[in-house]
Amino acid sequence: MDPVKLLKKQHREVEALFKRIGKTEGASERRRLMEEISAKLTLHTKLEEEIFYPALREVPTKKAEEMVLEAYEEHHVVKLVLAELPEVDPEDERFEAKMTVLEELIEHHVEEEEDEMFKLADKIDDDELEALGERMAQEAEQAGASVRNKRAA
Ligand SMILES: [Fe+2]
Repeated sequence: MDPVKLLKKQHREVEALFKRIGKTEGASERRRLMEEISAKLTLHTKLEEEIFYPALREVPTKKAEEMVLEAYEEHHVVKLVLAELPEVDPEDERFEAKMTVLEELIEHHVEEEEDEMFKLADKIDDDELEALGERMAQEAEQAGASVRNKRAA
């Protein structure tokens, strides 16, 4: 499992959800989509912070160090917005504004990762990359299972 492929796939999924929520009128459906975006981003940032970034940080260049540190800070801002979203009524004018801010934050973050940061992964050896990808896929699988269980309960 290629960790970069997995992360890019998650980026595409979140982008698609942002598109959908932009076209969705009903408050309850907007709330549901917001929760889905939030769950996906929470998993994604966790995989990056706990598994992928620490490995990238081992790449011995100043650039790697800087990019990883910046990415952690961007995640921090994303988490602040995610924490506030459930408090805002989807019919409130602030809901859409907050979602737009979140979408822009993610867009910027995705661009930096895909244009620059993920290229650093070429400097990690193949076996290690493979192992990182495995761990990330497993965690994603577990998170998916717990969401499914919650829904079934
Ligand atoms: Fe990412």
